[in-house]
Amino acid sequence: MDTVRIIQLPKNGDRRGNLSVIEECMQIPFKIERTFWIYDVPGGETRGGHAYRETEELIVALSGSFDVVIDDGKEKKTYSLNRSYYGLYIPRLMWREMENFSTNALALVLSSTPYDAADYIRDYDEFKRIKL
Ligand code: TYD
Repeated sequence: MDTVRIIQLPKNGDRRGNLSVIEECMQIPFKIERTFWIYDVPGGETRGGHAYRETEELIVALSGSFDVVIDDGKEKKTYSLNRSYYGLYIPRLMWREMENFSTNALALVLSSTPYDAADYIRDYDEFKRIKL
């Protein structure tokens, strides 16, 4: 099974600045069905607090910084994202919280599925039961 990991994205830099790129099924292991972004997060606020039954994601800090706390049912690991050429790959069935958003943080999320509220697991006890 695929594991949570930081994926280094190509960074094409020259005197004009940098350009990074993500192409379907090349830098990331899934077909992109949806893109959304999270921004204007008030200081101290957290996002996430759920897992997905099927959805895989890649999260990139396009601007600013934030932490993603991943819980696989056994242990928690915190990934600090603060560069736009690193993406955090999250497979299905991983509990995630996003916290410590800096001012002007912009989180880009690439998703393997269209939006479906039924794909969310919002109850932590249910998540733990599924992971057993
Ligand atoms: P939610 O998943 O709760 O955000 P987060 O995981 O960052 O805490 O989504 C917030 C709201 O946006 C909720 O009303 C559902 C809606 N939404 C969509 O309509 N489409 C989407 O693709 C996503 C991710 C959320």
